[in-house]
Amino acid sequence: MTTDTGIIVRTAGEQDWSNLLLLDEVGFGTPYTPEAIGMWRELVGVDRPIIAIDGEAVVGVTMDFPMTVTVPGGAAVRAAGITAVSVSPTHRRRGILRSLYTEQHRRIRATGAALSVLTASEGGIYGRFGYGPATIVSSVSIDRRFAAPHPKAPDPGGVRIVRPADSRTAITDVYDRWQRATPGAQVRPDVLWDQLFVDRESDRDGGTSLFVLLHDDGYALYRRVGGEDDGMVARIQEMRAVTDDAHAALWRALLGLDLMRSIETTLAPWDPLPQLLTDSRLVRTRSRHDELWVRIMDTPAALEARTYQCDLDLVLQVDDGFLDAGGCFRLVVRDGRAKCTPTDDSPQVVVDLDALGSLYLGAHRARTFAAAHRLWADTSETLRVVDHAFDSDRSAQMGWPF
Ligand SMILES: CC(C)(COP(=O)(O)OP(=O)(O)OC[C@H]1O[C@@H](n2cnc3c(N)ncnc32)[C@H](O)[C@@H]1OP(=O)(O)O)[C@@H](O)C(=O)NCCC(=O)NCCS
Repeated sequence: MTTDTGIIVRTAGEQDWSNLLLLDEVGFGTPYTPEAIGMWRELVGVDRPIIAIDGEAVVGVTMDFPMTVTVPGGAAVRAAGITAVSVSPTHRRRGILRSLYTEQHRRIRATGAALSVLTASEGGIYGRFGYGPATIVSSVSIDRRFAAPHPKAPDPGGVRIVRPADSRTAITDVYDRWQRATPGAQVRPDVLWDQLFVDRESDRDGGTSLFVLLHDDGYALYRRVGGEDDGMVARIQEMRAVTDDAHAALWRALLGLDLMRSIETTLAPWDPLPQLLTDSRLVRTRSRHDELWVRIMDTPAALEARTYQCDLDLVLQVDDGFLDAGGCFRLVVRDGRAKCTPTDDSPQVVVDLDALGSLYLGAHRARTFAAAHRLWADTSETLRVVDHAFDSDRSAQMGWPF
């Protein structure tokens, strides 16, 4: 395809990889290691990126690969994961991203994936393409020296210190169980596990190699950063717990790392850590941000895949300013399961597709979008019911970054 400005948009081939990687390296300010290049080629496929060409030069790139994402209720939904999107600084704001996305989403729609997901470098870009931030995470720091377990907090035990290489099967098993129960979490391909367990110096961000605390139903992978002079920090790279006991037991073990001044980690909303301590304020939030962004590609398929907290029977109008996933749908929920069918009836709820993407995994509330005039409901009772229905029992969380 050739755009109005003479830019050619086409599928990349082997001969384009060197140039498209260079573009991404410049775009993100980060050189790729040979291992990272190998991983992306395997995940995406050598002849699947879409590139924009001006004359001889590659001036834009986008890629995606198939993913499976859990939605509220535990169903596994097919999604496209978009990644490595860059436009040359010499060609910014001429509509190249829009042209690449138009072609890419046409191809994603043809695969039948119900969702498209990404992580956003900047918050202002992707709403116009129907993506809404759909998981929330807080980066926290705990001053371990003063953190004491609450007298009522359990002490379940069962945590072992193991070497990463000896515990791969146990860790991947816990992750798989956690992933199947957690909205937003993706199935993790072997090639990504390989990267994690190889634990290259270049991936350590100044920290030590990985330490592992393992429980039958959970694990914590962490590194030590900092030295004795400036205070040693246990920086958790990944912690997954399938049960409350595993979560409590792992935190007891982490808080027992006597020589660590503090522990840094990320927490999903409603993580019980603050409640496990006598002083919940010691869990100090450093930042709170979005991770996974969701665009619904097939509205009936996506809305029927998840479960709901209460019955519903209403007409929902979804506005998609980018493609054609919008329309008016009758959404009927009985015993948690939905039936979603196109209708000509008048809507009782109107919402843009990006806002629906934010509600989809249960991380955001319909009532806050209504307060911001980004969701309209015909009555306050309709809003109350929709707000409750789209909630989720478990906090949505992204499984791994891409
Ligand atoms: C983000 C990036 C891909 C945009 O490419 P681009 O070709 O300049 O974008 P386009 O000209 O096609 O713009 C498409 C739309 O997005 C908007 N937009 C683009 N970049 C934006 C930004 N940083 N913030 C807000 N809006 C932005 C444009 O105004 C335009 O809006 P409209 O079509 O509704 O009028 C490019 O700036 C880039 O490579 N940045 C560095 C790497 C990066 O952040 N990649 C994204 C990874 S998630």
